[in-house]
Amino acid sequence: MVDIGVLVSGGGTNLQSIIDAIESGRLDARIKVVISNRPGAYAIERARKAGLRVEVVTKEAHPVREDFDGKVVEVLKANGVELVVLAGFMRILTPVMLRAFPMRIMNIHPALLPSFPGLDVQKAALEYGVKFSGCTVHFVDEGVDTGPIIIQAVVPVLDDDTPDTLAKRILTEEHRIYPQAIQLFSEGRLEVRGRRVLVKEGTRPEGSLENPPVTLFDEGA
Ligand code: GAR
Repeated sequence: MVDIGVLVSGGGTNLQSIIDAIESGRLDARIKVVISNRPGAYAIERARKAGLRVEVVTKEAHPVREDFDGKVVEVLKANGVELVVLAGFMRILTPVMLRAFPMRIMNIHPALLPSFPGLDVQKAALEYGVKFSGCTVHFVDEGVDTGPIIIQAVVPVLDDDTPDTLAKRILTEEHRIYPQAIQLFSEGRLEVRGRRVLVKEGTRPEGSLENPPVTLFDEGA
């Protein structure tokens, strides 16, 4: 069991996937507080519907970045949060947050890091012409989207994709891997060794992926 605080800025579909995973008994965690930096975020509705405590912390009320983070830390600590989960939280953290929760902050990013950090990454992936994209759950360090990687999921990029269709395909995977990453943390199975995050007693993946598919060497070809 782990007590988490979820930080949001937008639609909150990742928050919803965590709520659903907890409610169905797949994820052994408690959401102690949801913090939004945007008063109008739909994520707030989702949190309220689930009966969760919601706090709004705005940059208007805390224009200095360190003060903003100081307020967020205060709320997280007051609610007994052990792990901070960034779920579509569109702010860069200052050392105030990082020092308060060292290797205790997770983020999800809609690309296969270290490719395409930052914003508008589905569009960037399409324009680059990659054949695969995906999503990454990582611990947050002082850089932007640079921390040790916990899980990644891969999706193909299709010829007729738009940034929206690709984002949707990636989001489906986000909703699978984020609760999984939190569950591994909750079970004490994540071991950070430098840049690498090892999973104790994990199962080994097999096989490989190609896009477009390689048919030349398949049986019967
Ligand atoms: C998700 O795709 C998430 O990976 C991305 O924002 C979306 C939030 O969706 N996060 C970032 O780009 C962080 N830099 P949601 O509000 O529906 O969970």
